Amino acid sequence: MSDPLDPSSPIGVFDSGVGGLTVVRALMERLPFESIHYFGDTARVPYGVKSVQTISHYTTQLTEFLLEKRVKMLIIACNTMAAVAAQVVRDLSPAPVLDVIEAGALSALAATRNRRIGVIGTPTTINSNAYARAIHAIEPDVHLTSRACPLFVPLVEEGWLEHEVTRLTAEEYLRPVLGEHVDTLVLGCTHYPLLKPMLARVAGPGVALVDSADAMAEQAAALLSERGLHNPARLPPEYQYWVTDVPLRFQSIGESFLGRSLNNIHVVQL
Ligand code: DGL
Repeated sequence: MSDPLDPSSPIGVFDSGVGGLTVVRALMERLPFESIHYFGDTARVPYGVKSVQTISHYTTQLTEFLLEKRVKMLIIACNTMAAVAAQVVRDLSPAPVLDVIEAGALSALAATRNRRIGVIGTPTTINSNAYARAIHAIEPDVHLTSRACPLFVPLVEEGWLEHEVTRLTAEEYLRPVLGEHVDTLVLGCTHYPLLKPMLARVAGPGVALVDSADAMAEQAAALLSERGLHNPARLPPEYQYWVTDVPLRFQSIGESFLGRSLNNIHVVQL
């Protein structure tokens, strides 16, 4: 039998790169006394255009790394990993596992009024149909329409959050989705919350944008309460960031995702 989970242990969060820092940011705001260990596979990002086999292999390595840090909970912040390799993580982890797709599906169902939901994400996430499965498992009659938006990740990494090129790209990608009269759009990729102001303008006021980062933080808080795993110490938490590379502009891009300064960065080789 595995050791009991320690409430003073950190929460482990992982992503294919820096994008998952949007989830870390939401966790820091919702759970200010919890320490967080973040792993971003910056040397091998993007995952969203890779095969299921490759993503599952990488996911195993990231999970094992964080489990060695004795985390009390694992959060799959990457939609692509959650879409095709969530079971790999659940099979390996003695700690509870949460993933962004589950969180995003629940928020979308809470937000929709006309029961017409749009989902955007990386090609791997959209091709996996993971959002459709998660949403239809709860409400089979909801009308879903989805669209892969492969250019958004590089545009965000370039910092072109308000650029004309990004606006035109968003209009092109969203046209068929909005044509289905959705009233809710799931931002099914860690990078997309940074495009929220632009996407809100393109989608118009009648469309609610669902950012799974906030939903994830709520789910994490609920799970910690349910399992009695909240950190009892009321001390400043410890944040550690593990990455596989420090690419150009990593610091500034990471800080824009996180909304605060990024310290304690360690480079590791898997
Ligand atoms: N983290 C990925 C996701 O949420 C986006 C970046 C990638 O393609 O690896 O889908």
